Amino acid sequence: MCYVRDILLDKPAEVWTIGPRETVYRALEVMAERNVGALPVVDDGRLVGVFSERDYARKAILKDRSSRATAVGDLMSSPVHTVTPDTHIDRCMELMTDKHIRHLPVMVDGRLASIISIGDVVKARMKEQEVLIKDLSNFISGNRS
Ligand SMILES: NC(=O)c1ccc[n+]([C@@H]2O[C@H](COP(=O)([O-])OP(=O)(O)OC[C@H]3O[C@@H](n4cnc5c(N)ncnc54)[C@H](O)[C@@H]3O)[C@@H](O)[C@H]2O)c1
Repeated sequence: MCYVRDILLDKPAEVWTIGPRETVYRALEVMAERNVGALPVVDDGRLVGVFSERDYARKAILKDRSSRATAVGDLMSSPVHTVTPDTHIDRCMELMTDKHIRHLPVMVDGRLASIISIGDVVKARMKEQEVLIKDLSNFISGNRS
């Protein structure tokens, strides 16, 4: 579980997206329906931003902007930080920490293929450590099977 491609093996293939001209209210509905915290914003097949619960909290609620009258494109975070299936998990953690983001769209051949969250990365890291601890325990006890 060291690379983004390993995380993708454990995830459903669908990626839920929203268009920049859709309302913020619609984005919140999609996030609630799909039980996710962020949506890549796609315009004409091109990734143009990410809209997250954090964007809503900071840029709509606190700024007193109506979710029904505001377009996703006005509040989304852009430019987008992305990764590929070959990105190492350490690099994902670094990006999430440095950029204060919880989601990273995954690009394949320049096109949006998936998205990973901070929960996915933590889960992968924990799995990696469990395997290491098991291997070390087996090594110490002499059980190499
Ligand atoms: N059930 C699971 O497999 C799972 C996985 C990760 C996190 N969680 C839990 O969900 C809560 C919040 O998790 P989080 O902070 O990682 O973020 P999140 O709620 O956005 O992500 C939850 C899961 O949905 C996926 N996801 C997010 N946005 C998506 C989108 N637009 N299209 C398709 N899939 C998308 C993520 O990759 C992740 O696997 C935490 O309590 C966490 O423990 C559950």
